[in-house]
Amino acid sequence: LAEGPLSGRHVLVTSGPTHEPIDPVRYIANRSSGAQGAAIAAALRDLGARVSFVTGPARVPPPAGVEVIAVETAREMKAAVEAALPADAAVFAAAVADWRVTAEKAGKIKKEQGKLPVLDFSENPDILAQVSRMAEGRPRLVIGFAAETDDVIAHATAKRARKGCDWIVANDVSPATGIMGGTENAVTLITERGADAWPRMTKEQVARQLALRIADHLSQH
Ligand code: C5P
Repeated sequence: LAEGPLSGRHVLVTSGPTHEPIDPVRYIANRSSGAQGAAIAAALRDLGARVSFVTGPARVPPPAGVEVIAVETAREMKAAVEAALPADAAVFAAAVADWRVTAEKAGKIKKEQGKLPVLDFSENPDILAQVSRMAEGRPRLVIGFAAETDDVIAHATAKRARKGCDWIVANDVSPATGIMGGTENAVTLITERGADAWPRMTKEQVARQLALRIADHLSQH
């Protein structure tokens, strides 16, 4: 482990999309690349933290020097997060599927002439909200993400209250920004003190700044 302001700290990071199975060969997913989460895990590592990296099936590889816990579904991610706790801080960068198919079919759904499958959905557990509201063993700093396409600050501020987390890293993922799946990010950090808009920078730079803010917070609280 590197020596740095996070030496001796344990930080949990979730990253990537989740895959929710329909049948043995099909699943529902989303476009998260896992790039921002991987960059955050690497930046925390570089500041000396021990990092537990709980990742769904991402397009970018996990960074070296972190403990990788690979999962597929939201429910697996929740179990992996619970197993990785306690932590000093937790960063929830994963794009967790909101819904899963209620009853995964044991066999491949057959294509039948003139017949369309109907899927029934259930809500997935909200991992960020559950960890934020832990009665015991809550990380001292819980950070969520908000991917918004409009009214970014208003929606992210409401999300911070609804989830019960300490900070929200909000980003504008309107297709025109090229952020989702791209190399850059433009984020606004929402804390108890309000909204702080950061200039557009690479996802590595966002990760570095966030890791420094986390180190600063943990040193003072
Ligand atoms: O509600 P929404 O999905 O927009 O919230 C995004 C934030 O909540 C992200 O930090 C994401 O990792 C987290 N989340 C979660 N579990 C879910 C849904 C979202 O941890 N089921």
